[in-house]
Amino acid sequence: MVRTRILGCGTYLPANIVTNTDLSKRIDTSDEWIRERTGIHRRHIAADNEWTSDLAVHAANAALSDAGLKVSDIDLIMVATATPDHTFPATAAEVQRKLGLKRGAAFDLQAVCSGFVYGLSVADAMIKAGQAQTVLLIGAETFSRILDWTDRGTCVLFGDGAGAFVLQATPFDEIPGKKAEGPGILSCYLRSDGEYTDILYVDGGPSSTQTVGKLRMQGREVFRHAVTNIADAIRSVLRDVDLQISDIDWFVPHQANVRILTGTAKKLRIPEEKVILTVDRHANTSAASVPLAFGEGLVDGRIKPGDLVLFEAMGGGLTWGGVLARY
Ligand code: UT7
Repeated sequence: MVRTRILGCGTYLPANIVTNTDLSKRIDTSDEWIRERTGIHRRHIAADNEWTSDLAVHAANAALSDAGLKVSDIDLIMVATATPDHTFPATAAEVQRKLGLKRGAAFDLQAVCSGFVYGLSVADAMIKAGQAQTVLLIGAETFSRILDWTDRGTCVLFGDGAGAFVLQATPFDEIPGKKAEGPGILSCYLRSDGEYTDILYVDGGPSSTQTVGKLRMQGREVFRHAVTNIADAIRSVLRDVDLQISDIDWFVPHQANVRILTGTAKKLRIPEEKVILTVDRHANTSAASVPLAFGEGLVDGRIKPGDLVLFEAMGGGLTWGGVLARY
């Protein structure tokens, strides 16, 4: 039997930090409103000459060094992003070029804020099917490029950044009756509901308007679905391996709004000290937020080898899902 292990993690945040107070000088908002409604204090914004692939490469190099592997060990690059460098080729192909990787395959995966959780599930399936041995999965976004900076209801919510995992096939013999023992990805759950394409979307695209477009959101509607769908994802991944909420060491959620996270924690009786929170300093970095949060938990020593970690996300589509892994 083969399991997918998380061998390394790396992150990258652009140098430029924009605070709520900075934003309040440009639009009709306040530090108080943003903190109270979202928990966000500040966000990182990419420089004009920094593209999604540049952020991705920084995170990828950090993840490879954490894993103790060389670029040439990778046989598949997946980039989860809704803000690619170009319509095509895939940003993953740009990353492959910039890393100097001469082998393997590269493609992008589009599930907006759920992109990294979708990516973990796809990487796990590719590894278990024998189609890849060592996968570089990157969540990288420059959402600042698709924001309408005159719309205070959305532009205060997002930031730029990237996070990457190195995932590798590892032989593993399951102990009968102990599905959740041993390192690696233990269960995955993916969902989408296309009925709600109109509550969180970008109003442009190559086939429709031939423009890039700007992000549009009915915030209250998205909020309402988020708490229900995240609870669905968490319950489903746990059910798969006969575990309870109390078995989990760390919850690493997509970081959209601190109220969504505390609301979900309360609903499911998850102790708040088990939830890794970065939304206050990163804002919502879409597909990058899950690996950015995991990376922070690793670097500050909270997440340790052997810990049971539950990743979850929900975003445009609507898409949502969860992945349970032992680090
Ligand atoms: O990554 C996954 C996708 N995204 C999400 O999960 C986000 C989900 N939604 C949310 O986080 C929240 O709905 C928001 C933070 C976006 C908004 O919070 P809300 O409590 O739902 O506020 P609202 O949109 O209902 O607006 C309340 C008021 C309105 O004023 P009136 O009509 O009551 O006078 C807005 O115009 O707040 C006003 N408002 C602002 N005021 C100051 C909206 N944005 C701002 C702002 N600064 N930035």
